[in-house]
Amino acid sequence: MKVWGKYSSTTPDHGAIIPGIVDKLKITGGARLNGTVQIGGAKNAALPALAAVLLTDKPVELQNLPGVRDVRTMLRVLEQLGASVRPVEDRCSGVHVKRLASFEAPYDLVKTMRASVLVLGPLLARYGRARVSLPGGCAIGERPINLHLDGLRQMGAEVSLEHGYVEASSQRLRGIHFNFPIKSVTATENLMMAATLAEGTTVLGNAAQEPEIRDLAEMLISMGAQIEGAGKDEITITGVTELGGTSHEVIPDRIEAGTYLVAGALAGEALELVGCRPDDLEPVLQQLRQTGVPIVVEGKSIRVEKAQHLEARDLRTAPHPGFPTDMQAQYMALMTQAQGTSLITETIFERRFMHVGELQRMGADIRIDGHTSVVVGPGRLTGAQVMATDLRASASLVLAALVADGVTVLDRVYHLDRGYEFMEKKLCALGAQVERIR
Ligand code: UD1
Repeated sequence: MKVWGKYSSTTPDHGAIIPGIVDKLKITGGARLNGTVQIGGAKNAALPALAAVLLTDKPVELQNLPGVRDVRTMLRVLEQLGASVRPVEDRCSGVHVKRLASFEAPYDLVKTMRASVLVLGPLLARYGRARVSLPGGCAIGERPINLHLDGLRQMGAEVSLEHGYVEASSQRLRGIHFNFPIKSVTATENLMMAATLAEGTTVLGNAAQEPEIRDLAEMLISMGAQIEGAGKDEITITGVTELGGTSHEVIPDRIEAGTYLVAGALAGEALELVGCRPDDLEPVLQQLRQTGVPIVVEGKSIRVEKAQHLEARDLRTAPHPGFPTDMQAQYMALMTQAQGTSLITETIFERRFMHVGELQRMGADIRIDGHTSVVVGPGRLTGAQVMATDLRASASLVLAALVADGVTVLDRVYHLDRGYEFMEKKLCALGAQVERIR
């Protein structure tokens, strides 16, 4: 079944490649999931790839773009800056920034998507000027951008904060040795992009190692950048004077895949995920296997079914190759159905337990103790009215609703639509009862 279609940055803003989509999900629990689900392109790889287009005046073609709201937002940011963007059709778009119309990523766009800050490095590197709204805090924590700014300052940029905006300007940036005090995914991406056009060599130490960093580096290299070590702890970038166009295919979304794996572990009869990169999912696969979830990996596909004996296992989130914080909420939904007590510790974001209160409303036995949630299972979940508070929290509530007795109505689905393409369509195709309602 081909569910993706054509959309542009102006397609209405609620998950909305398909007209008439509204903002709540009604989920009736108890269905068994059967069949094949196609995993989309990685949101967190697509966003930096789109920002990287600013580094060249040649056209760039991107394939496997996911049909999610954050991608539409990034396309809008690019259009605002002067890019001409071909509407995304069958997951593919062409973006061309021949010349810039503005240097500004405005508050209205940045407030809905923090990753807009990824345009900062490319704008400075190619045009020597950028004005990007400060993203502010968000539901899961403060999320400052000090590391992005520190790195760019050391590369020679003048950076000030005025009226809620980062104002930055520079001559040609220069290469630096920069050691991240903590690992940051988008700060690594921002500095890596900035360094591609800087004078001299940049070494990024304690760099983030997520698969999305490697994907971005591969795209930049295909544009003519000189980068070594992406995906490792230390990345070396030797600046060049210009970058060319390219055609790049975004990697599959490991978090979307992980979410469907948990759906399969909770309610799968014979569920197959296709179009994955199992290597990128290793930390998730390992953890799920330890709880007793039967998983078979074959090339780019993964088969999963409901665990007969699901055992509670503790979890600690960590930067890649640790267990991703973006899968913590979904794992917690799984642990509500596991035998025993699991301690789930969040180490990346300080407020990433917003789903706990909602899972409790569905009957889950969970207690928060500082950065750890104590989940006691297995417990009966019952359908309830619940509220999505952030992207991954929403996904955990959808998962819980799949196995809850009765009907769950999930409000504020726009959070989910930021990062999951056609989730209700994909789940329905597997046999779940999910409906979008107003
Ligand atoms: C990215 C992902 C997000 C994921 C997160 C952690 C994208 C678009 N988003 O977000 O889905 O949950 O990685 O894997 O790729 N920090 C600072 N100062 C900074 C930057 C970060 O203190 O300048 C802190 C953050 O508050 C957080 C930690 O570093 O505690 C890691 O955050 P970071 O890796 O930067 O997350 P994002 O890149 O925003």
